[in-house]
Amino acid sequence: MDKLVSKLNMKKIRKDFPILGRKISGKKLVYLDNAATTQKPKAVIDALDEYYEQRNSNVHRGVHTLAEEATEAYEESRKKLARFINADRREIIFTRGTTEAINLVKFSLGFEKGDEIVTTVMEHHSNIVPWLMLKKKGIAVKFVDVNEDGLLEEEQYDDLITEKTKLVTVAHVSNVLGTINDVKKIAGIAHDSGALCLVDAAQSVPHMPVDVKQLQCDFLALSGHKMLGPTGSGALYGKKQLLEEMEPFQGGGEMIKTVSTEKATWNDLPWKFEAGTPNIADSIVLGAAVDYLQKAGMKNIREHEKDLTKYALSRLSEVKGLTIYGPEAGDRGGVVSFNLGDIHAHDLASVLNDDGIAVRSGHHCAMPLHTRLGIVATARASFYLYNTPAEIDKLVASLKRARKVFRL
Ligand SMILES: Cc1ncc(COP(=O)(O)O)c(C=O)c1O
Repeated sequence: MDKLVSKLNMKKIRKDFPILGRKISGKKLVYLDNAATTQKPKAVIDALDEYYEQRNSNVHRGVHTLAEEATEAYEESRKKLARFINADRREIIFTRGTTEAINLVKFSLGFEKGDEIVTTVMEHHSNIVPWLMLKKKGIAVKFVDVNEDGLLEEEQYDDLITEKTKLVTVAHVSNVLGTINDVKKIAGIAHDSGALCLVDAAQSVPHMPVDVKQLQCDFLALSGHKMLGPTGSGALYGKKQLLEEMEPFQGGGEMIKTVSTEKATWNDLPWKFEAGTPNIADSIVLGAAVDYLQKAGMKNIREHEKDLTKYALSRLSEVKGLTIYGPEAGDRGGVVSFNLGDIHAHDLASVLNDDGIAVRSGHHCAMPLHTRLGIVATARASFYLYNTPAEIDKLVASLKRARKVFRL
């Protein structure tokens, strides 16, 4: 443990997460699948109970006490999330997560035949498939490549962006390679050509300080369940002026100002984009997750993960036959994908599971990237604020055991 000097109070933090006390296959759980979803602290679990036990009601609809309390809590959570990424509360639209946030932009931005979208091969499917779905409307989708070091070939933007480019989209942090993309620079390139920039921040907002003003992006998508919050929570940030100009996503209650049998007019931001009864409980509880993260300190979390990743990369290099993907240690996110010899990642993950270690295996919803790397799957260890160097040691020991199991 002395291998890492964390500003986080690890003992206390680990105690806050009841699931970390679980045993898997008779061994203490080592949870290294945080890029898929994170575990929840007691404060978040309790906030969900408290909401349903004390406040459950629909929002924006009643004058009774419960309705007012639920509405206040829902809007307070929105303000917290807005402050967390340095946005205005009207610029935060609650969604089910990153996927829904990106699909909202796809639906509401008003793409027309002849428009072009520039994305990258390192994206999660949620930042590729929505755009591919627009191809049948005559919209071109172009891809920036990655190089052998797992970095974006940024110079390709010059060729790929044209005066027809309406949107440039990019992941802030790759969920496979851990690459941290220079989204501020990419937003600048997009703006220079009159295009907008959408950032998929599913793997950055939970792990490092993120400031939408500093990034200068137009849209940013995030998932609550990847930042200690409940599944089904998340948000889209969008610049106010753009959101005002955009068409609503879905039609129904909540998102209207007036309705006649002839026509409807739209509600103010952000409710214009939140049709129907929203995911009230989980969106409120996302605010409790933000509180927890802020208390720990986003800079501390980033430093902790940086050190942990550096340590992991150095220890993993001891394992013979292990191929590690992504940039060198240093400025990368807490995600390490690898393959051991020619063992299928699922088989490897199942040996690790026998040692109580949870890693993800497969294409991690990034098939174009795996195709580009010439592989079908990887195993992926991804870290968060509660992970320790001792858990990395366990991962390394288990990988060494896997070599024996597979007679490598
Ligand atoms: C980079 C990235 N983008 C988008 C997503 C999709 O997030 P969600 O499933 O929460 O919508 C993920 C989830 O793994 C991701 O890692």
